[in-house]
Amino acid sequence: MIEIVPSILSADFARLADDIARAERGGARMLHLDVMDGHFVPNLTIGPPVVESVRRTTKLHLDCHLMIEEPERYAEIFVKAGADSVSVHYEAARHLDGCLNLIKKAGAMAGVVLNPATPVSVLEDVLDVADYVLLMSVNPGFGGQKLIPYVLEKVRHLDRLRREKKLALPIEIDGGVHKDNLAEVVRAGCDWIVTGSAIFHSPDAEVTVREMRGIADGATAIPV
Ligand code: DX5
Ligand code: ZN
Repeated sequence: MIEIVPSILSADFARLADDIARAERGGARMLHLDVMDGHFVPNLTIGPPVVESVRRTTKLHLDCHLMIEEPERYAEIFVKAGADSVSVHYEAARHLDGCLNLIKKAGAMAGVVLNPATPVSVLEDVLDVADYVLLMSVNPGFGGQKLIPYVLEKVRHLDRLRREKKLALPIEIDGGVHKDNLAEVVRAGCDWIVTGSAIFHSPDAEVTVREMRGIADGATAIPV
């Protein structure tokens, strides 16, 4: 099942509940929350209290993307705050296997994230432990950047790997996805498609989510 996953990074934080409701009316079933610490990435965003507030305002699946150092220290706190899935960067987690198991034990899906320049091959052994993989299609830190084209080759590589291993784990992509490149992204093998500015900087977030869901469904109908 393909999911369009609106990233609240580009929403209006003073009117967050309204923006979330718009995305929900457009058919979104998941919401992406970017957590940045100013160290792992050169930007600061939200922490557990905001996740708790969002949890109270919606029943959508909350997908927390931790762009932080020492994710082992904080991952569980985000599950307790209401996250349904929590992903940690391969580049930041010193004890990746332990961290993924911690998230699962706390009751959420556990994801591994790779920066654009980190090869898919590093995941070979951990694929059995992770519940999903997020491939960054921009350098993490900011919304509104351009998708790095070689990441789609990484998506195809990971798609082949999961077929070989007969794993059902979803592939998530994050950064620079908009209506014009969405079909290509879906055909490469992505299941969860995060998109921030294309939705919340559009004139009508509800209409845009609906249009993107239509494009994604259309793309899967076309044989590759
Ligand atoms: C970037 C974040 C993304 C961001 C994507 O570091 O992880 O989730 O919101 O924004 P767009 O869709 O504008 O590239
Ligand atoms: Zn993200």
